[in-house]
Amino acid sequence: MLAILGLLTSVFSLLYVTAPSIRKFFAGGVCRTTVQVPGKVVVITGANTGIGKETARELARRGARVYIACRDVLKGESAASEIRADTKNSQVLVRKLDLSDTRSIRAFAEGFLAEEKQLHILINNAGVMMFSHSKTTDGFEINLGVNHLGHFLLTYLLLERLKESAPARVVNLSSVTHHLGKIHFHNFRGEEPYRWGFAYCHSKLANLLFTRELAKRIQGTGVTTYAVHPGIVRSELARHSFLCCLFWRLFSYFLKSVQEGAQTSLHCALAEGLEPLSGKYFSDCKRTWVSPRARDNKTAQRLWNVSCELLGIQWE
Ligand SMILES: *[C@@H]1O[C@H](CO)[C@@H](O)[C@H](O)[C@H]1NC(C)=O
Ligand SMILES: *[C@@H]1O[C@H](CO)[C@@H](O)[C@H](O)[C@H]1NC(C)=O
Ligand SMILES: *[C@@H]1O[C@H](CO)[C@@H](O)[C@H](O)[C@H]1NC(C)=O
Repeated sequence: MLAILGLLTSVFSLLYVTAPSIRKFFAGGVCRTTVQVPGKVVVITGANTGIGKETARELARRGARVYIACRDVLKGESAASEIRADTKNSQVLVRKLDLSDTRSIRAFAEGFLAEEKQLHILINNAGVMMFSHSKTTDGFEINLGVNHLGHFLLTYLLLERLKESAPARVVNLSSVTHHLGKIHFHNFRGEEPYRWGFAYCHSKLANLLFTRELAKRIQGTGVTTYAVHPGIVRSELARHSFLCCLFWRLFSYFLKSVQEGAQTSLHCALAEGLEPLSGKYFSDCKRTWVSPRARDNKTAQRLWNVSCELLGIQWE
């Protein structure tokens, strides 16, 4: 009994002593560039909360005109007014964008192209992590539909404006979970439920495959593209039950804050001299390793073709 107590005490003291360094380890890299971006135009999807909001805040602080594109315009407005007050930059705007509905994506792009003659940075930040078997308005499996197809269409619709504004950048949020992903070509419409909730991982792999393919296709246009793993962040993804919440609170001490989670996106959006690394994957503000599946050019090409078909677009 005493031995167990002793053991427990040592484990807890060890944890207590080492926690701050473990915490620091998980905090990861910091975006060190001091580049200012006055007058540059930025679109960030899902920037009403979490990492997207912190990314928007920092870009606004550096002088950009920032469009927060999100589904819930009221939440977007409250984030925008907080950022405006915080950064003294009045150029923080909110526009409606529902990535689970291609009509909404087209309406957003049309409105944006009508009001802005330039676009320098597009950050495909929004993401859903759904374990249930749901579908988008257009009938796509929801994780793939929002995280991949929605951003695919958005990027397609805005690419000309990016090219006209070159040098310009497209930053995509992927995730380390892509290592568990696989592209199931015959299941894009969610014909069969994915097992074990891996749909999110599949969609994150799709994001990476697109990095490769897009980078190839836009080579020489002055637009470059980067994929980002933000780290494991204390965001809103897992707050459902009380128990989960309690566990999450304890556990989340070790996770990145949203500000820390925004660093790699900022690095890819801002750091100078990153152009030769177009198409690559970054984590903790450094280039990092992707799974062999994410390096498969043939799957990347096929995914590109199938995505165009599903969306009814011609993207050569
Ligand atoms: C970003 O995602 C879009 C849509 O999925 C894709 O077209 C593009 O290639 C991706 N870029 C990166 C760097 O992942
Ligand atoms: C895949 O594409 C990359 C980038 O264009 C290229 O460097 C690589 O050699 C290709 N891999 C294969 C197996 O063709
Ligand atoms: C994708 O489409 C292009 C053009 O239609 C075609 O040449 C290519 O073979 C297709 N790639 C795959 C892997 O399906």
